[in-house]
Amino acid sequence: MGILSHLSILHLLWAALVFCQYEDYDFEDEYGGEPDHQVPYYFNPNTPVEAPHFPFPVECAKECFCPPAFPLSMYCDHRKLKTIPNIPSHVQQLYLQNNNIEAVPAGPFTNVTFIREINLSYNNIKVHMIDHGVFAKLSHLVQLHLQHNELEEFPFPLPSSLERLLLGFNNISRLPANALEGLPNMTTLDLCNNLLDDSVFKEKPFSNMKNLMQLNLCNNKLQTMPPDLPPSLRHLSLENNSISHIPENYFHRLPQIIALRMSHNNLQDIPHNTFNLPNLLELHLGHNKLKQVFYIPRSLQHLYIEDNEIENINVTVMCPTLDPLNIKQLTYIRVDKNKLTSPISTYAFFCFPLIRTIYYGEQNVTASRPSQLRTPVFRRFLTPEEFQEAEDNHETLNQETEEDHEAEDSYFHPYYH
Ligand SMILES: *[C@@H]1O[C@H](CO)[C@@H](O)[C@H](O)[C@H]1NC(C)=O
Ligand SMILES: *[C@@H]1O[C@H](CO)[C@@H](O)[C@H](O)[C@H]1NC(C)=O
Ligand SMILES: *[C@@H]1O[C@H](CO)[C@@H](O)[C@H](O)[C@H]1NC(C)=O
Ligand SMILES: *[C@@H]1O[C@H](CO)[C@@H](O)[C@H](O)[C@H]1NC(C)=O
Ligand SMILES: *[C@@H]1O[C@H](CO)[C@@H](O)[C@H](O)[C@H]1NC(C)=O
Ligand SMILES: *[C@@H]1O[C@H](CO)[C@@H](O)[C@H](O)[C@H]1NC(C)=O
Ligand SMILES: *[C@@H]1O[C@H](CO)[C@@H](O)[C@H](O)[C@H]1NC(C)=O
Repeated sequence: MGILSHLSILHLLWAALVFCQYEDYDFEDEYGGEPDHQVPYYFNPNTPVEAPHFPFPVECAKECFCPPAFPLSMYCDHRKLKTIPNIPSHVQQLYLQNNNIEAVPAGPFTNVTFIREINLSYNNIKVHMIDHGVFAKLSHLVQLHLQHNELEEFPFPLPSSLERLLLGFNNISRLPANALEGLPNMTTLDLCNNLLDDSVFKEKPFSNMKNLMQLNLCNNKLQTMPPDLPPSLRHLSLENNSISHIPENYFHRLPQIIALRMSHNNLQDIPHNTFNLPNLLELHLGHNKLKQVFYIPRSLQHLYIEDNEIENINVTVMCPTLDPLNIKQLTYIRVDKNKLTSPISTYAFFCFPLIRTIYYGEQNVTASRPSQLRTPVFRRFLTPEEFQEAEDNHETLNQETEEDHEAEDSYFHPYYH
């Protein structure tokens, strides 16, 4: 009893000390200014109460750096390491990105109990070099970064505590039937830049992830929309696949979608009511083969339909009825590289009274159908506040480029940009 209460006082003192250091400690100086650290979970009020005991001074692998101000983090990144060093038992965040690690053996993890986050991105890890069950044993792990490795398969099994799994830029071509089972807390799954095709959908891999909010499947080989996605989904990224069709009522099951990215696909016709989604804010459909516009839900703010084959933007289709008490929220439309010959009908400004910018850019027109478009950017007169807001959203730039729009997107990659 006496020892226990002494220990907890020690803990409190330590926490206070750490917290004070955190205020004025110049972390960048000590660590050479990589801006990629998140504030460790230690400072997160949601940290589990069962904080581990750590020795004082903090134990650290000799290859790594354990900043006194972040005693639960071990930094071993950018060190040309070929193997994973032994991990002290108290470590909660482990940074091993940008090394030459090929294997994940169980040994170094022997004493680890409390680890919550592992960053193994930018290494040379192959799936068969991961010891079976090495991750599954880490029962507090919430975040695992394995992007930019050489995984040819999904790293299975994983711990049921996992919330964010980043597997982009690997060569994963299959998702085994049970790979994604037993991961009820998963919120973010990034599988962009892999070799996935429609065959992975046979087993309905995503259907059991009841809390999944963000699914990134960009730059794969999909030809159809993924079936059986969980209704919790908010951000869906499917750009740069070969999807040619969105089934009627596809999004009925996904009412919480906020942002949808489907640029660089082969979409031609979109069923009129496809995007009747009450929470949709951002819709990317650039670089497809669309000939027609479609219904625009009330919530939508940003619409990207550049580089399609649209000759005429029929505002009646986008906005079949006017409801002055429930105005549509659209502020920005990007329509460059289509086949428009005249500006959007002024009826659009009744329907979408908040429109600030229509980016017409250059249109692909022929001599037989010359353009009457006089300005590349339409801009409504903005109040100073609106102007500031538009500027923050990169909406007011004169020379808008692809990059501006990539940078603008804040709905995706919230965890690893
Ligand atoms: C993980 O490593 C990558 C690559 O260096 C970096 O971009 C990212 O910010 C890191 N994330 C975390 C949470 O440490
Ligand atoms: C685990 O802890 C024991 C006892 O403290 C120690 O002898 C051993 O080297 C540790 N193993 C690893 C892999 O850190
Ligand atoms: C991934 O597969 C491609 C062929 O599809 C191959 O060229 C490339 O080297 C592979 N990359 C890795 C990291 O294995
Ligand atoms: C899932 O999250 C909830 C709420 O944060 C937590 O109570 C539960 O233990 C987690 N499940 C697993 C398997 O870690
Ligand atoms: C789309 O994916 C292909 C490979 O499948 C790649 O070569 C191309 O650069 C990607 N395009 C974009 C815009 O990401
Ligand atoms: C726009 O669409 C409506 C409804 O589909 C149709 O009745 C109308 O003729 C179209 N207008 C133009 C200019 O194509
Ligand atoms: C312009 O449209 C024609 C067909 O009308 C197409 O062949 C050509 O690739 C388009 N050019 C661009 C730059 O999109």
